[in-house]
Amino acid sequence: MDTSVYEHSVAVTVECLRIADQFDIAVDRRSLIRGALLHDYFLYDWHSRPKEHRPHGFTHAKTALGNAERDFQINPIEAEMIRCHMFPMNILRIPHHRESIILCLADKTVASKETLNGGIVAIKRVSSSIIGTVH
Ligand SMILES: [Fe+2]
Repeated sequence: MDTSVYEHSVAVTVECLRIADQFDIAVDRRSLIRGALLHDYFLYDWHSRPKEHRPHGFTHAKTALGNAERDFQINPIEAEMIRCHMFPMNILRIPHHRESIILCLADKTVASKETLNGGIVAIKRVSSSIIGTVH
């Protein structure tokens, strides 16, 4: 199952709010929501892996930040959220704001669930095709 960047970003935003609320963390909710929605605003199909965006994992946060700054009025918290959301992969972009740290956790949590769900769907598809050939 492929998840669109839009679906991923909305799911990450919901997870950010869940984390902030569950642990009663004082956050700038407007920035948390906006930064989470824009964190992957890189605007290309990463599956096609355009040469100028390789390696995607290391470059897309910077691309997303440039696009967000071009298209929206973003504040310093939102900018840091987008710039640092791939920490610790991007080890030199350390998040400092609570909103950025929450986004890092939420993004990994949601991405892990999406990967796991994709694996389960693939296993079901393969197993049903094998069972289908047994008949
Ligand atoms: Fe990302």
